[in-house]
Amino acid sequence: MGESCKTSRGCYNFALRYTAESTPNIITRQQQVIKNIMNKPKVIVTRRWPSKVEEKLSGIFDTKLNLQDEPMSKHELQHALQTADAVLPTVSDKITEEVLNIRPIRAKILASYGVGFNHIDLDAAANAGLTVTNTPEVLTDCTADLAMALLLTMARKIGEGERHLRNGDWSGWRPTHMMATRVSGKTLGLIGMGRIARAVAKRAILGFDMNVLFYDPTPPESKILGDLPVFACSSIKEVLSKADFVSIHCPGGKATHHLIDQEAISMMQPHAFLINTARGDVIDENALVTALVNQEIAGAALDVYEREPKISNALVSMENVVLLPHLGSATTETREAMGMRVLDNLSKFFEGKEPIDKII
Ligand code: DGY
Repeated sequence: MGESCKTSRGCYNFALRYTAESTPNIITRQQQVIKNIMNKPKVIVTRRWPSKVEEKLSGIFDTKLNLQDEPMSKHELQHALQTADAVLPTVSDKITEEVLNIRPIRAKILASYGVGFNHIDLDAAANAGLTVTNTPEVLTDCTADLAMALLLTMARKIGEGERHLRNGDWSGWRPTHMMATRVSGKTLGLIGMGRIARAVAKRAILGFDMNVLFYDPTPPESKILGDLPVFACSSIKEVLSKADFVSIHCPGGKATHHLIDQEAISMMQPHAFLINTARGDVIDENALVTALVNQEIAGAALDVYEREPKISNALVSMENVVLLPHLGSATTETREAMGMRVLDNLSKFFEGKEPIDKII
């Protein structure tokens, strides 16, 4: 407080004088602010986003942030759909038919933060007249890096070794201590050959001299694969039975639910490892636990889970698994880029143009 505010009366007088002198400008500015707010589309963000993006979003739109970062309930999501022009969910918000089955809906767009969109019932969204967008491309490299990190961590017992050392169990170097599995030169099988799978293939081939096989029901055109030396298999079975490491990169949703079930796992070699950075329910988690207990495969490295964030107790207690809490895209650079991508999609949409990542 300045000298002129020593008494409340003084402050009040000062405030009055200030107001009287500046009235025309202030009103004009206030009117402008109100006009801008009234013209700005109202957007509701369901979780906390990186602060840079939240700030930018708040500057452009009439934005309601979720400062508590608590997941929104079904009713809160419905309220958001009824009161905002855009709802900005993440991959952990379940935008089901039930959620979308309310009328009237004010929202015109679900601008989702994340590349996967199996958390949104697209038919119900279309029935509600909603446009849906996602954030592809910007998370490709970081997710591929994490898939390789999981593969290496599993094969070379990195988690197990660290736990061993931190527990104070290390008695020193010896020739037979914690012998693991060589990665270089081995065969990597990819289920799905989208952007992330191709980025994994590049890392595996250039960095680790691996042979890469893949199966994708809609394989990429040869010009997309370029000169990447990968072998297209004619079935999932071929990939599963030939690979030393199987990494999952297909989309989630009904079509791939439990694609890797007991029968599929039984096609893998006993020394093979399973890696999943895609969607949890592509693997039947109970079948995976049984296979690991029975040593039908050598191990699994997972970033995503069927009942996320719940994980089978059995998995947590096993040494031959690596478990991460859905961190594929979790770098500052990528999470900011994902937010900026949502912003681009929203801006285009509210300018009356087609958002670049329009799904429906
Ligand atoms: C996605 O974007 O779909 C990931 O699972 C989270 O980054």
